[in-house]
Formats: sequence, structure tokens, C-alpha cells
Amino acid sequence: MIKATLKSTGAYLPKREVSNTELEHLMDTSDAWIQERSGIQSRRFADLTSETCSSMGAKAAAQAMSAASWNRNAPDLLIFSTLSPDYYFPGAGVLAQRELDLPNIPCLDIRAQCSGFIYGLSVARAYIESGLAQRVLLICSEAQSALMELSTRGRNISVLFGDAAAAVCLEAAPQPQHQPRFGLMDCLIHAEGAFAEELVLKNPGTRNSPICRPEMIETGEMLPYMNGPAVFKHATKRFHEALTSLAQRTNIPPSQWDWFIPHQANQRISMQVAKSLSFPEEKVISNIHHRGNTTSASIPLALHEALTEGRIQPGDLIAMAAFGSGFTWGAALLQY
Ligand code: UT7
Repeated sequence: MIKATLKSTGAYLPKREVSNTELEHLMDTSDAWIQERSGIQSRRFADLTSETCSSMGAKAAAQAMSAASWNRNAPDLLIFSTLSPDYYFPGAGVLAQRELDLPNIPCLDIRAQCSGFIYGLSVARAYIESGLAQRVLLICSEAQSALMELSTRGRNISVLFGDAAAAVCLEAAPQPQHQPRFGLMDCLIHAEGAFAEELVLKNPGTRNSPICRPEMIETGEMLPYMNGPAVFKHATKRFHEALTSLAQRTNIPPSQWDWFIPHQANQRISMQVAKSLSFPEEKVISNIHHRGNTTSASIPLALHEALTEGRIQPGDLIAMAAFGSGFTWGAALLQY
């Protein structure tokens, strides 16, 4: 049987680090509130005069491709996940393709927000296992500081989110005989549109015509909205469900996972979920403290950093799970 395997990772972080203290000067918030509620101490913001969602994604992808020894002709599918694309259309995938000078391979954009990486893995897996693709480049990038208002009005969103990009190179490989634990072993994804407006950026959207009106800036209609407590409640429940289902489907209980990489939405959510699975805290990979919530980039970024630091070793079993706007959620089990 052909499996999708993780060949390499790459990441790109904008240089500008924004501390909670810096935000205190811009809005009614405090370092203590942000750390206590989310675990975040600082995050990176892109230089929006020179860095874009697609350009950061292309940089992460170039690093991953180089680490995989892939040349420009290697990938036969590009998947790009973001909630903060350069343009309304076309998607950021074709822009990254252009920047990477890739040939005319298909570029598929994924709009699953914080679950984008898991959704992307699931698509890559389907292409690879069906034989439709041999090598898939999956890019997750977020320039979400462009969407936030650094003011008291925008504080419940703007203290949490950061900018970053990460990419993975996935390759088809035959599963060795007598080795049931190999490559991307399982990936499940779900959605529940009933809660679409609980975490949403409605404008510019085609439900409103014309899609941009000057007063929208005044009224804050062009800012993202999040019902934090509702999202928190659903997130903890769905994380637990997805991971329990992953354990059942693979017949591998959490006690046998070497690592758990949750989507970095909130350190409290990550720890609550780990506790609910009796999974040891020290095996939960977190980078939220200095990265904030980087939406679809958060899992591959944490994966890249843990690999670079040498924490994750070849052969390790890594469980991953995400939850976000949609609502969307999912989980995956990977043997590195
Ligand atoms: O990645 C996608 C998925 N996202 C998530 O999973 C996020 C899930 N939600 C959360 O992580 C948490 O709900 C938050 C971190 C967003 C908020 O924490 P919370 O403990 O749920 O706080 P809250 O929203 O209930 O707000 C508590 C208070 C409110 O004041 P009152 O009404 O009690 O007077 C807020 O107005 O904190 C206030 N508040 C703030 N205070 C200082 C909200 N934002 C801020 C802020 N600084 N930035």
C-alpha cells in the first residue's frame, strides 16, 4: 500500500516580535490578562510593506523543498491553506507557485482556517494514496495582523493572533511489510456550519453589496469577530472527540503517542485536552508563548520547530489536532 510520508518541513517567521507590553500601549489590555487567559507572551507581526501571506508561504516552502532535495519540477500538487490571503481572488496558492517558479501544477486553496493544516494533510493523503500525486507541497501561511485592529475595540482578537508560515513536503512511499506504523497513518476531518458566525470575518463578503463601504471601517464591520467562550467550549469538546476517534481508528491509544501537537489556539485548551486524554503535559508541543495563534500555520510551525530542536526523532508517533472557524476540526496521526 502507498502511504503519504513526511519528507521535510520549512518555516518563515517575520522578524518583528510584538510583546504583550507593546500591546498594552495600544489598547486596554494587560500582559497579565493575556498570559493568564491564553499563555501568550509575544507574537510576530509581518512587515506588511514587504511581506505577504503568499511571499511568507513561498519562503517556508523553499526551505522545505531544499530540505527535501526537491527541485522546482518535483511537486505535482501545491496545496495552500490560509484565512488571510493576499487577494480576495485568486487564491494565494498560485501566487506562491509563481514566486517559487513552479511549473503548471494544480494549486488548490484550502479555506478551513485553524484546521487548514489537517484538512491539507487529508487532501494530500487522498491524492497520494490514490496514486494521483507522488509529491505534494502543503503550505500554510497567515498574515493576519493585516486583518486586526490594534485597539480596545479589536482586543479580543488582536492580542491572540500572530503571523507566520510553514510548509511540508509529502511524498508517496510503499508501506514496508510488517510495519503497520508508517507515514501518515490516519487523518480525519469534520465541520459544523451551524456555528459559522461564532468566529467570522464577514466583510468584505458578497452578502453585502457593495462589498466595501467607507462606513464599514467606522463601524468595525470589517473586523474579525470571535465569541471566545463559545469557541473555547466547542474546541475542547471537539479536540477530545477527534483524538479519541483517532486512537480508536488506528488502534493506538494516546499512551503510545510520542508527541501531541495541538493547534496553538490557547495554552489552556491544549492542557485541558491533554489532561482529558491522560496525556503527559511534557509531551505536548507548544509554541504559543512566543508565536501566538498562527491559525493554519500553527501545527506545521510547531512541528518544524520541534524537529529543528531535535525533540522529535525518526520513528516517533505524532498526534495532531485542530479546531477553528467554521467550525472545522480534525486530527491526524503521523509516524515520522
Ligand atoms: O484558533 C481558533 C480557535 N480559537 C480558540 O480556540 C479561542 C477560544 N477562546 C479562548 O481562547 C478564550 O475565550 C479567550 C482567550 C479568547 C478569552 O478568554 P476568556 O477567559 O474566555 O475571556 P472572555 O472572553 O470571557 O472575557 C473575559 C473578560 C471580558 O470582560 P468582562 O465582560 O468580564 O468585564 C472581556 O471584555 O475579559 C475582557 N477582555 C479583555 N481584557 C483584557 C477581552 N479581551 C481582553 C483583552 N484584554 N485582550
